[in-house]
Amino acid sequence: MAMFSTSSSPLIPTLILLLSLPLLFFFVAPRILPPRQISISIPDELDDLSLFHKAIAMDSANFSRRTATRLPAARSHLSAGLRRPKIAFLFLTNSLSISPLYGNASSQMSLASTIIFTSMPTLLLRSLLRWRKLIPSKRTQRSSPTLISAARRLLATAMLDDPSNAYFALISQHCIPLHSFNYLYNFLFDLGRLSRNLEFSSYIEILDSESTLWDRYNARGKNVMLPEVNFDEFRVGSQFFVLTRKHALMVIKDRKLWRKFKLPCLNVDSCYPEEHYFPTLLSMQDPNGCTQYTLTRVNWTDSVNGHPHTYHPPEVSPELIYRLRESNSSYSYMFARKFSPDSLNPLMEIADSVIFKD
Ligand SMILES: *[C@@H]1O[C@H](CO)[C@@H](O)[C@H](O)[C@H]1NC(C)=O
Ligand SMILES: *[C@@H]1O[C@H](CO)[C@@H](O)[C@H](O)[C@H]1NC(C)=O
Ligand SMILES: *[C@@H]1O[C@H](CO)[C@@H](O)[C@H](O)[C@H]1NC(C)=O
Ligand SMILES: *[C@@H]1O[C@H](CO)[C@@H](O)[C@H](O)[C@H]1NC(C)=O
Repeated sequence: MAMFSTSSSPLIPTLILLLSLPLLFFFVAPRILPPRQISISIPDELDDLSLFHKAIAMDSANFSRRTATRLPAARSHLSAGLRRPKIAFLFLTNSLSISPLYGNASSQMSLASTIIFTSMPTLLLRSLLRWRKLIPSKRTQRSSPTLISAARRLLATAMLDDPSNAYFALISQHCIPLHSFNYLYNFLFDLGRLSRNLEFSSYIEILDSESTLWDRYNARGKNVMLPEVNFDEFRVGSQFFVLTRKHALMVIKDRKLWRKFKLPCLNVDSCYPEEHYFPTLLSMQDPNGCTQYTLTRVNWTDSVNGHPHTYHPPEVSPELIYRLRESNSSYSYMFARKFSPDSLNPLMEIADSVIFKD
């Protein structure tokens, strides 16, 4: 199956980059009163539902003809020369500082369509010309369920955009790629799994112990999560995941857990809905279909106020990239965060010789 491994082949799938812009963060809060949370309005909720319905309907209408999406059936379709599975990159971002790194990766992918973003700095425009889709933004805020809805909208839009999208990678503006696109592609669509007709897994961190888990479970009030989610079903994990189409569908079909997770928190200090919704839902519905780990490296050493270490230009080096790839398991990390916007220049300098070398 050489079609998977060549880097210059025109058969290389297109990258679809979806942008959610701009996510607005509101940090202005009176010091004494708890910060006011924005809630999701009924019209926004209905908009989302109609988008999800469309994506779900298309998925079932295309059920018999879908190729890549019905993994692991992809193999027979692939050898029949039909469409190849694609990876959709979903940018959950309010800035595009690191984006040229992805733009470069996608320049190798023979992308056809163009959308011009007039609000973009011209410096970035060239690499963005190949990006295909811009999602209308809605207000989002930390410690509120809006980040869950933003991620769900990205998933649904990417599903609708192309039935060949088989993996969905959620990325932030502070995430950088640690490997070439081909390396990631060959890792995700692993021929070993294909040949054994094994199902593909989602890469999402799912943890059942964390010192503040009880407080986070009760952030909306005591026992509010019951009966939908028992405490022993409540999970935590990074929201930067790579989901299969099957799991993306599960996420946009869910109503039951969303009903609870969309409730505003009473205790804002323990309120991180996006770190719980996805791992809890998938661990309840298909724990064995998930690896339980993330492909996005993050450095929590000396973290301040729940923010991980941010890498700045003087820290960027080939050695850092090699170090960030290393994991304690058999896999290599594919992305890393967080990188400051001004890290872009030193990163671009080592992009071809280090990051995209494999
Ligand atoms: C099925 O997928 C094709 C693209 O391959 C698309 O044109 C068509 O509209 C989809 N069907 C439905 C019902 O959305
Ligand atoms: C982007 O990728 C192309 C093709 O691999 C390479 O020739 C070029 O130098 C890269 N540009 C940057 C700015 O990294
Ligand atoms: C993680 O961050 C700390 C500083 O907070 C730094 O000393 C350490 O080298 C970083 N680790 C890696 C693997 O980059
Ligand atoms: C691997 O495990 C060691 C020992 O538990 C730990 O110190 C180190 O940070 C881990 N490395 C990664 C990349 O998680």
